[in-house]
Amino acid sequence: MKSAIAFALAATAAALPAPQAGTSEPLRFSGMALRSASPIHFGSINANSQAFYIGKNTTTHCPEDSAASSACETANTNQTIFGYLNGQGTLSLSTTVPGGQQVYVTEGDEATGQLAGQLKFTQAHSAATSGPALYDGFSIVYDARFQFEGNDWLACPVDDFNSGYGIWAASRVEGSNAGEGCLGFTWRVVQLDDSTPSAWQYV
Ligand SMILES: *[C@@H]1O[C@H](CO)[C@@H](O)[C@H](O)[C@H]1NC(C)=O
Ligand SMILES: *[C@@H]1O[C@H](CO)[C@@H](O)[C@H](O)[C@H]1NC(C)=O
Repeated sequence: MKSAIAFALAATAAALPAPQAGTSEPLRFSGMALRSASPIHFGSINANSQAFYIGKNTTTHCPEDSAASSACETANTNQTIFGYLNGQGTLSLSTTVPGGQQVYVTEGDEATGQLAGQLKFTQAHSAATSGPALYDGFSIVYDARFQFEGNDWLACPVDDFNSGYGIWAASRVEGSNAGEGCLGFTWRVVQLDDSTPSAWQYV
């Protein structure tokens, strides 16, 4: 008994200096959709064209002609990796590009026809968004479940036949006509270790 306690204390002490993912360093994770008996079950959530999709590939870019070119040899080109600090409420993409890239949910704007609730991301070197944007409200809750404003997600088929599903926040999508045939799903956080390289930037 006594030695078990001593051992536990020693293990805690030894573990302390390492930064803990999610608290002092962003937790790096990919997103997996769970909706049993549906085409999106186990689908990965991929960055593509400033938004997120299940059924479209991740699209990245690395400027081979710049100082970054050596980084391009090892940059991730096919995985969408998010970065999240516990308790911050905001979400970024795990990228190397200076300034990073921010993830947001569209707020909706009748004047421009922007629909509310779509999950999108900013381009590199720019904070521009496609209309009013919500940056705050992301959280990881019990059982590695990722939410926005305490709610789960919808995957809505893209208009083009067979080109995947866009990702929408259930808390904001009501009345926004995200599309026919949306599927509610749970977003599972799949934590990645530090050896998984980051993309230079997502496009
Ligand atoms: C998506 O990625 C897969 C695997 O790398 C590849 O076989 C497929 O052609 C890609 N699809 C498109 C549309 O680029
Ligand atoms: C992703 O890219 C890496 C490195 O280019 C490659 O080894 C891996 O097979 C790719 N994975 C998929 C699913 O295409």
